[in-house]
Amino acid sequence: KRRQRFRRQLLSWYNTHQRDLPWRGVNDPYAVWISEIMLQQTVVAAVIPYFEKFMTRFPDLQTLANAEESEVLQYWEGLGYYSRARNIHKSAKIIVQEYQGKFPTSLKSLQKLPGIGRYTAGAICSFAYDQSAPIVEANTLRLYSRLIGLEEDPRSKSGQNQLWDFAELILPRKSPGIFNQALMDLGSLVCTPQNPACNQCPVSSACEAFLKDRQHKIPIPKVR
Ligand code: ADE
Repeated sequence: KRRQRFRRQLLSWYNTHQRDLPWRGVNDPYAVWISEIMLQQTVVAAVIPYFEKFMTRFPDLQTLANAEESEVLQYWEGLGYYSRARNIHKSAKIIVQEYQGKFPTSLKSLQKLPGIGRYTAGAICSFAYDQSAPIVEANTLRLYSRLIGLEEDPRSKSGQNQLWDFAELILPRKSPGIFNQALMDLGSLVCTPQNPACNQCPVSSACEAFLKDRQHKIPIPKVR
C-alpha cells in the first residue's frame, strides 16, 4: 500500500517535471549504453553535444566496431576519462564478434563487457528493455540514502547492499524503465546534494531523512 502510493506520487511528479533529454524515450540499447557511459563522470549539459555528434558519426554498433580507435578517441576529446571511449570501442568489437552483433539482453552478459558495471547494465536493461533491473548511481544513491535514512557510508559494502536492496524493492513490475528515469530526475532536480527541495518533493512523506530533518547530513560526504 505504502509502496503503491510512493509509485503513484513519483510518476505523477515525473509527468510534469521530467527533463527532455536526447536519450530519453530511446529504447535502442546501443544509444542508452553510449549515453550512460558518457554520463558516468560528466554532467548532463556537457554530455548532450558529445552524445549527438557521437551518434551521428557512429549511429550503430557495427559502425563503431569498424572504426579506428583513434577516431573514437577524437570524438571523446574534451570529455575526459578516455578509458571510457577505449572500453566502448572494445565492447563494440566483442559484441560484433562474440554476440553476432546483437546487443546482450541480460544483466549478467552485459556486465562481462569492459566498462559495464552493475549500474550501466541495469540502466540498459531497464531503459532499453524495460526489464525490472535496479539502478544505483550518483543521483539515485543520494535519493535512496535519504529515503531509507542511511547514516553509514553509502559507498561501504554494507551501505551499497542496503541501497541496491532498496532499489530492487521499490521497482514496480509495470514499466520499471520509466520508474527508474523518474527516480533519476527526482534525485537530480529535487533531491540535490546541497539544499534539497524537500518542500517540492512528491515523496517527502516517505523519506526517513526528511522526517528526522537529516536531509543535510545524509548521505555522508565521500571519505577521502
Ligand atoms: N545520469 C546518469 N544517467 C542519466 C540519465 N539517463 N539521464 C540523466 N542523468 C543521468
